[in-house]
Amino acid sequence: MTRRIAVVGAGHVGPVIARIALDAGYEVAIAASGSPAKIALIAQVVIPGAEPQWASGAVEAADIVVLAIPLHRFVTFDPGLLAGKVVVDAMNYWPAADGVLDLFRDGRHTSSEVVQRRLARSTVVKALNHIGYQDLEEARRPAGSSERSAIGVASDDSRAAKAVEEMIERIGYDPVVMDSLSAGRVLEPGGPVFGALLRRPEFKLAIGARAEASA
Ligand SMILES: NC(=O)c1ccc[n+]([C@@H]2O[C@H](COP(=O)([O-])OP(=O)(O)OC[C@H]3O[C@@H](n4cnc5c(N)ncnc54)[C@H](OP(=O)(O)O)[C@@H]3O)[C@@H](O)[C@H]2O)c1
Repeated sequence: MTRRIAVVGAGHVGPVIARIALDAGYEVAIAASGSPAKIALIAQVVIPGAEPQWASGAVEAADIVVLAIPLHRFVTFDPGLLAGKVVVDAMNYWPAADGVLDLFRDGRHTSSEVVQRRLARSTVVKALNHIGYQDLEEARRPAGSSERSAIGVASDDSRAAKAVEEMIERIGYDPVVMDSLSAGRVLEPGGPVFGALLRRPEFKLAIGARAEASA
């Protein structure tokens, strides 16, 4: 069972993910690229209760790691840091912001497939990438609410997907599970649900999934 979440990335979206995870009752550590002292103030003011740490320490103790750094920084990120971990890839390839990156420019594979290939000793689950940080906190709703929005969860590993599905459920969204990182293409920028807040039936319609495809 997931108790502890590490958020790597303390920019726009990382602190919001940390905050909603704390609200959901998880223990949360947050890290940026350097010393925790650099994010101590933001953690104290914006994410009270989250523990600022070095990335290595945050990751080591975590059941699930959310990776929320820009992809242009991921290309030099040390994959060994995340070895053995379930990693939520909340990142998007955004050439306007990231520049054109050789690693991601070949559109035959989703960015998460590329991330998984690079993080060969981790298990990658795509999620939390398609809702803007401004909405992520506000759009949460309790289970059963008619206004509850859906969040896509895509992975090649059903066990890891299940763990992340439970996390998404607990933070206030209805998960829609896709059975491969490749199928997660619909979650990417330019895809049918990117940037949209949709209830689960509409989300499934938008991605073309059969209504009974996942609960
Ligand atoms: N913005 C959104 O609404 C949103 C929503 C969903 C998903 N996303 C995706 O999430 C990713 C991050 O977006 P953002 O807007 O939050 O970016 P951002 O504001 O530029 O975040 C940068 C953060 O990443 C950290 N970082 C960079 N390299 C690192 C490393 N090697 N190890 C640890 N931390 C590192 C930076 O730490 P330092 O300051 O120490 O360098 C900084 O805290 C992007 O791929 C984006 O597409 C964004």
